[in-house]
Amino acid sequence: MNLHLADPTSDAIPLWPVTKTGFDTWVKGREAVQARWIGASGFKAKPGKYLLVPGEGGRLAGVVVGIDEKPDLWAYAGLPRALPAGIYQIQSKSDAVAATRSALGWALGTYGFDRYREKSERSFADLVWPDGADRGHVERAARAIALVRDLINTPASDMGPAELAEAAQRVASANGADCRVTVGDDLLTQSYPMVHAVGRASSRKPRMIDMIWGNPAHPKVTLVGKGVCFDSGGLDIKPASGMALMKKDMGGGAMALGLASLIMASKLPLRLRVMVPAVENAVGSNAFRPGDVLRSRKGITVEIGNTDAEGRLVLGDALADADAEAPELMIDFATLTGAARTAVGPDLPALFTDDDQLAADLARHGAIESDPHWRLPLYKPYRAMLDSKVADINNAGEGGMAGAITAALFLKEFVAKTKSWAHVDLYAWNQKARPGRPAGGEAMMLRAVYALLAERYGRG
Ligand code: BES
Ligand code: ZN
Ligand code: ZN
Repeated sequence: MNLHLADPTSDAIPLWPVTKTGFDTWVKGREAVQARWIGASGFKAKPGKYLLVPGEGGRLAGVVVGIDEKPDLWAYAGLPRALPAGIYQIQSKSDAVAATRSALGWALGTYGFDRYREKSERSFADLVWPDGADRGHVERAARAIALVRDLINTPASDMGPAELAEAAQRVASANGADCRVTVGDDLLTQSYPMVHAVGRASSRKPRMIDMIWGNPAHPKVTLVGKGVCFDSGGLDIKPASGMALMKKDMGGGAMALGLASLIMASKLPLRLRVMVPAVENAVGSNAFRPGDVLRSRKGITVEIGNTDAEGRLVLGDALADADAEAPELMIDFATLTGAARTAVGPDLPALFTDDDQLAADLARHGAIESDPHWRLPLYKPYRAMLDSKVADINNAGEGGMAGAITAALFLKEFVAKTKSWAHVDLYAWNQKARPGRPAGGEAMMLRAVYALLAERYGRG
């Protein structure tokens, strides 16, 4: 993977970052010919805009780039795609954090999903590593985010439960982790009944992926991800419009694997566990049905109000298993509800946790890392909306209100011993392209959670 970050060279093309307020003074410091060109172009140094500036004989002298007073991760991320091929160098002094951020934004701006193209038409500009940048972190983070995006972008025909499990095995073996995968009817003997029920109608067998890494004496952190490789809705089948994007319903699983790869490659001193139930929610004569009652791993019985509320079922068994060893911190990621999208839109994952300190720390890191999210309440009185007349709980809320909250409350039933638990309901997809974020699969909250873990547990 080429991140388009280069070692210093004497003939690098200068990138001049300029803020709106600093612009006039900066122009005054240019040669007269250049100042005239810049004036004639109408360029105003608006963040995200850039202008090629000619030098002697019409060659490219440099590029002026509009930036914010406090440039974020995306300040330079549009440039690798926009600028003519060449090696560029940012002409400003910045601290190590800002240097790392600029480099990561650049690297993320060079992502493209080319698996199904004969040859890529894209060419990208290169950036000289900014002074002081943490090269190792940039490389690890860019690779982790590209992994998440690739897994999500790959169509369900090539990313079924088996392929998702293979991807997990690759992440595990690259980092010296143990990875156990329970397949098909073994899910029944190993007691993951809800994973089996949701996945059994597909010709592609359901699986439980269970990865363990690190020193057993270190604090236990567990990541759980929804791995629904395609969500047709099951017998409560989705309409075409609702099904169109459902290859991304394993986005939570992709997030768990990508974040895990970053944690392991960075050798954070944790005992990490990753659980991803990988299934296809398909239609078939042996599909689970509305009205069925499932006995979960935890023993709680679940009445199926809607076969399209499948994510919470597969996660229920995973969470119950993960909870049994009482981890210090457990975070699950899931494209769980349309209701979360109605509430906060595609760009803001909804965060649910009873741990105020965790929420505050994540909000702080989210702001620094340009990895925004929004907290919604685990409002206990709404648990009544999940009451069932025949079982301990129903998997679909009555009345269809507060759907993201009732889904989170459903998951909470399976978490008891874990010291601190958070649930992230994410969209995992960029609706429209923005600098550094092409339309398609996206890692959401990866940087915020990683930064929190690095702060709490430190680098090894
Ligand atoms: N995978 C969907 C949720 C989803 C839909 C996420 C669209 C992102 C975009 C999930 O399995 C689902 O269908 N949930 C239902 C639950 C309902 C039946 C209680 C929903 O949100 O409508
Ligand atoms: Zn569904
Ligand atoms: Zn789903």
